[in-house]
Amino acid sequence: MRILLLGGSGQLGKTLINSAPERIGSHLIDLISLNRKDLDLADFSACKDMVRLLKPDFVINTAAYTLVDKAESDSLKSFLVNADAPKALAEGLKETGGKLIHFSTDYVFDGEKSKPYKTFDIKNPLNIYGKSKALGEDYIMELLAPSSQCFILRTSWLLSSYGNNFLLKMLTLLMQKGTVNVVSDQISSPTTTITLANACWSLINRVSAGEKPSNILHWTDNGVASWYDIAQAIAEYGLEFGILNKPAKIIPINTLEYPLPANRPAYSVLDLTESRKHFDFPSIYWRDSLKTLIGKLKDLY
Ligand SMILES: NC(=O)c1ccc[n+]([C@@H]2O[C@H](COP(=O)([O-])OP(=O)(O)OC[C@H]3O[C@@H](n4cnc5c(N)ncnc54)[C@H](OP(=O)(O)O)[C@@H]3O)[C@@H](O)[C@H]2O)c1
Repeated sequence: MRILLLGGSGQLGKTLINSAPERIGSHLIDLISLNRKDLDLADFSACKDMVRLLKPDFVINTAAYTLVDKAESDSLKSFLVNADAPKALAEGLKETGGKLIHFSTDYVFDGEKSKPYKTFDIKNPLNIYGKSKALGEDYIMELLAPSSQCFILRTSWLLSSYGNNFLLKMLTLLMQKGTVNVVSDQISSPTTTITLANACWSLINRVSAGEKPSNILHWTDNGVASWYDIAQAIAEYGLEFGILNKPAKIIPINTLEYPLPANRPAYSVLDLTESRKHFDFPSIYWRDSLKTLIGKLKDLY
């Protein structure tokens, strides 16, 4: 079974490579990971041609323009990578018959709801990143949902041991500073890339076995938190695993006290009820997932 992975140098992409099974069902996996120099996602024709050339059974698209604040002043690039590239992949797959697993975000919602967002809730993104991801979803659904060739996996607040994510940034700040201000009025579900990679492989397994999950799925770790709560948990586990000695004091602040170019939803928890029917493993409480991840980091510090 040929699987084309896009975004293999990103935090989710790396986790997918490291957790890839040898087989799906009775099929050996031929995992092809292309990076930016092999395929620039801002090049629509190149994306479509690559799918035509490789004819993968699945494309896993983890690649995205993920710089939420930079996207506000780089809207063109954000839309090319997050909307037009998925459209090109979908057009290619419509011709070749392969399926697309595409990752999307809680930031397609406006955060005005006080209950977790269902997969069918109306999208109303507050920033360019969210708008471009929402348009990418729409293109994919239009082209591939009628033939059950697409699965959009929305997730939130990814944490991992790679790249420039909140966990690694916070560990550095907690080590180096006396106090750290962290926003406490934005709420979602922190999710490790390990959780999400497992969900992705499980989904491919099920689809290959002939199941037809919904075209839009939500997957995150369980429970909700603010960035402040996550920072506190990082300090706690950092101490427990001996990564931190005397962590900085963490001060809760409001979004308004930490202005950024992009607006963010105040509440973007995703409802997993429907999606849980399609995954055959338990979801994990975010603190447990984070603790396991920090435990694995301890040798690096
Ligand atoms: N991070 C989060 O908190 C979060 C939350 C919700 C949803 N998501 C979604 O989850 C998915 C994975 O996110 P992530 O955090 O793993 O992303 P990431 O670490 O920022 O990685 C993004 C990947 O996209 C690639 N990329 C960007 N522009 C490209 C281009 N023009 N051509 C080719 N490759 C390009 C990057 O390649 P380079 O290494 O060459 O830059 C990198 O491999 C994305 O769809 C994202 O929207 C993320």
